[in-house]
Amino acid sequence: MKEEITRRRALGVLLATTAAGASLPVYARKPGTGGGTLPDPATAPPLRTYFESEFEVGMAVSPYQFSDSVITSVVNKHASSLVAENDMKPHVIGVGPGTYNFGPGDEIVAYAEARGMVVRGHTLLWHSSAPEWFFAGDATSPGYAATVENRLITYVTDVVRHFAGKVHAWDVVNEVISDDSTQLYRSSRWYQVLGPSYIETALRAARAADATVQLFINDYSTEDPGKLSRLMSVVDDLRSRGVPLDGIGHQMHINISWPPVSNVASALSAVEARGLINHITELDVSLYDRDAGSCHSNPPLGCQSSMRVGSVQYKEAIRQQALQYRAMYNLFAQRESVTSVTTWGVCDKSTWLATWPTQRTNHPLLFDASGKPKSAFWAVVDPNFGP
Ligand code: G3I
Repeated sequence: MKEEITRRRALGVLLATTAAGASLPVYARKPGTGGGTLPDPATAPPLRTYFESEFEVGMAVSPYQFSDSVITSVVNKHASSLVAENDMKPHVIGVGPGTYNFGPGDEIVAYAEARGMVVRGHTLLWHSSAPEWFFAGDATSPGYAATVENRLITYVTDVVRHFAGKVHAWDVVNEVISDDSTQLYRSSRWYQVLGPSYIETALRAARAADATVQLFINDYSTEDPGKLSRLMSVVDDLRSRGVPLDGIGHQMHINISWPPVSNVASALSAVEARGLINHITELDVSLYDRDAGSCHSNPPLGCQSSMRVGSVQYKEAIRQQALQYRAMYNLFAQRESVTSVTTWGVCDKSTWLATWPTQRTNHPLLFDASGKPKSAFWAVVDPNFGP
């Protein structure tokens, strides 16, 4: 099915067909408009329809955005999947041992259910969202590690049970692979107390709590061959011991010139070779591709200075962004293994990249701050559109 749709799109026939063979609305082919003129937003095909036979179209949201009509108009038209940008993380849900704040996550689930959307769960364990109560106690006492492990099991069990039947896939562990080529595992608090076994513990507890939910390891920079290789070593180790795992989440916080599509293709292939599913979980394409290392370690030192909207530099970055998005979605559409593609945000009105690694203008999504489809959107849905 994916090959057939890709072939038709290459021919410029923007017709999607359901698995059952029913035709969906045909969207008129747009001539390449180039030159900064974009097609009428009213003619934009809903992404969730356009990619219906290929993957779920996801967007990261927060409940406060449900009263923002710019956000909801994009979400309601284009998304078939939602994920909580922050509200299902342990620092929000895990108020204390056995005490949970499910309210914001439940709101997102209710919003999705009312509109026939699915929900991805993000995330059960993350070093950046690890409340202190998990680690309370005397770290030198003999039972300390077992106590921490039991808190983890209880947390994962209760949260997965709460969302059973409502969340179809969980990022069980997030960012557990090291960026340092000399070690496999991130040296997080979890790792320091429990060693690598906490990954297996979390995966087994999630499976025991919900027999059918899809279980993912989610990470960034899987497009980097070294990081990918470390991740696959961990995956192979888990699988050799029968640890439940359904797929890999590729965050894909990328930029206008990195990575080459071949690197992403290699990452998807490595996962496919192990019989696992690929989800693209946090896609955005930054306009900045020349930040020095210090921009991340000691911002704003080495960060590219903010672009002025409308400048030559900005327009060129927006053009390159469109080509990057097109290359990525073309790849995802070709791969049967890619069953979900989520952008980390809805439109440029709200993005974590406006403040990270430094405060500056950054417009990394498919829709602009007023919710209108950008060049990147048209490049994805129209092979003849010339950004
Ligand atoms: O809600 C408060 C607000 O009341 C307060 O005034 C403001 C002042 O700092 O902070 C607000 O909370 C912020 C929250 O985002 C909501 O905007 C937190 O400080 C900030 O730390 C938090 O950042 C989130 C970050 O994860 C840490 O949880 C980002 O929104 C979110 O995009 C980011 O998402 C992560 C993924 O989970 C994992 N992969 C990387 C990705 C980007 O860092």
